Amino acid sequence: MVIRIAAVGDVHLDEDVVGRFRPALERLPERADVLLLAGDLTRHGTEREARCVATEFGGLGVPVVAVLGNHDYHCDEVPQVLRVLRDAGITVLEGDSVVLECSGGRLGIAGAKGFGGGFAGRCASDFGEPEMKAFIRTTSGIADRLGAALREMDCDVRVALTHYAPVPDTLAGEPLEIYPFLGSYLLGQAIDSAPTGLAVHGHAHAGTERGTTPGGVRVRNVAHPVIKQAYSVFHLGEQSMSSQVSARTGSGT
Ligand SMILES: [Fe+2]
Ligand SMILES: [Fe+2]
Repeated sequence: MVIRIAAVGDVHLDEDVVGRFRPALERLPERADVLLLAGDLTRHGTEREARCVATEFGGLGVPVVAVLGNHDYHCDEVPQVLRVLRDAGITVLEGDSVVLECSGGRLGIAGAKGFGGGFAGRCASDFGEPEMKAFIRTTSGIADRLGAALREMDCDVRVALTHYAPVPDTLAGEPLEIYPFLGSYLLGQAIDSAPTGLAVHGHAHAGTERGTTPGGVRVRNVAHPVIKQAYSVFHLGEQSMSSQVSARTGSGT
């Protein structure tokens, strides 16, 4: 019983990028049961760029499940972006979940964009100015919804999908000074509150691929600049996980 999960983040689509991933995606149904997109699907979050995402990742022959990233929020067109993606058949998670029937079992995916705040001993706290409290309460609210979504799924294998990082391990390579803007330990706590099999995120372009939550959940940074291929594929069984390389993107990404 193995479920095959393809994942990539930070594809930052615009018209000049369309077509770069598609050749590698054409054979996806042979290699994976689902494709996860870990946010920053667009360059600046415009409806026009979302249509590029729909062109590149629509109609792949496997379910596509996504979360948005900070870039997808930039132009304040989130409702339009969501509509375009969903019209293309892409499931976009915002603190909720989806369970897919795969040949290897029921795959539950809980997803949320996440937000910043930092990691144990080096983190923002719910104290002081209203702006600081609003910042950390944004993260804690998202983490609470992610944790609840993970715990409530009825499935054989659980996967957490975020844009922001749940652990600092996968940020190695990024400047320490920006860690609080790259993720939060609260996301890691949410992931550890359920028997999660794998956590996938993006956002940290200069980070590292592999990490682990304090509770032992494997974390993978699948930001495209990190994995340097169209997608990575992870094989999840009830007890174990392995990863494989997959097809490369065209040159220049
Ligand atoms: Fe990004
Ligand atoms: Fe990002």
